[in-house]
Amino acid sequence: METTALVEVQNLYKRYTPDGLYAVADVSFEIHAGELFSLLGPNGAGKTTAISVISTLLQPTSGMVRVDGYDVQRDPMAVRRVIGVAPQELALYDDLTAHENLRFWGEMRGLHGAELQAEIAEKLALMELVDRAKDRVSTFSGGMKRRLNLAVGLLGRPKLLMLDEPTVAIDPQSRRYILDWVKKLREQGVTILYTTHYMEEAQELSDRIGIIDHGKLIALGTLDELTRLVGEHETLRLQLLQEGGGADLAAALQSVEGVIQASATDGEVLANVTSAEATLAAAIGTATGLGLGVRTIEIREPNLETVFLHLTGRALRD
Ligand SMILES: Nc1ncnc2c1ncn2[C@@H]1O[C@H](COP(=O)(O)OP(=O)(O)OP(=O)(O)O)[C@@H](O)[C@H]1O
Ligand SMILES: [Mg+2]
Repeated sequence: METTALVEVQNLYKRYTPDGLYAVADVSFEIHAGELFSLLGPNGAGKTTAISVISTLLQPTSGMVRVDGYDVQRDPMAVRRVIGVAPQELALYDDLTAHENLRFWGEMRGLHGAELQAEIAEKLALMELVDRAKDRVSTFSGGMKRRLNLAVGLLGRPKLLMLDEPTVAIDPQSRRYILDWVKKLREQGVTILYTTHYMEEAQELSDRIGIIDHGKLIALGTLDELTRLVGEHETLRLQLLQEGGGADLAAALQSVEGVIQASATDGEVLANVTSAEATLAAAIGTATGLGLGVRTIEIREPNLETVFLHLTGRALRD
């Protein structure tokens, strides 16, 4: 892996009002050329805010951000020439056709003539939208709109592509299509900043992952480095017969030997344990003692969910 930093973020702070809370607080990371870097975090963590600053849409409150050596505040036009963005809120005109949307955004990026036409044709083919090129976006499915939004981000062959939660609210087939396509781009050497709240996606795609929560980068590294933070611990996942009761069980499990941390959402409890085998019986016993029935119990190897639980004491749910 090349070690040149295409993106440098140093001590970035961003708040939307002079005395408001920081949406991004003291965040630092680098993205190397050719790397796929994910920002993984729950709703409101600060992912879109970070992308907006890097893509020059928002000014940092303080800190330094450089893309390809250009400072986002001093040289925003130079930054814009090397980036492409597929924003979380689709940047598409419903009343225009797919082709017209690509032409509009291509012209905005300074493309014209034969070069623009060639790029539009290439992007439509890449996203398998050739048949629908002349249809208005208002007639598109959610998955098709997402694909077109990604095609727009790719216009002008950016060095750095930023994809802000590109698979939210689409069907599984479109999601698979997008994930495979992201991997292909990564193989072609495009540097990608990917945001998601899906652990599986961060796990599957990323060279390195930054976990962001309440505006702070709480962990940064490869999947291996991050799971090592949890040590050799495993996770017990218990599904209860009762809807409620999860919180009570999580609280009770905190004082069971071998349980490092436990948290509950709906009828499900996740417990970080030193040894799943050794804790299994005690966990079921604790549930029974509280009058709770266990529907299923599952042992999981350390993954990003475990890491998030370990770092925050909360579960990161899809
Ligand atoms: N335009 C704005 N004005 C004021 N506060 C904002 C604005 N945009 C975002 N925020 C706040 O900043 C924080 C971070 O929001 P942001 O949209 O960056 O999070 P996110 O990680 O992208 O979340 P999601 O997964 O829901 O997209 C939140 O507390 C949010 O309410
Ligand atoms: Mg967002």
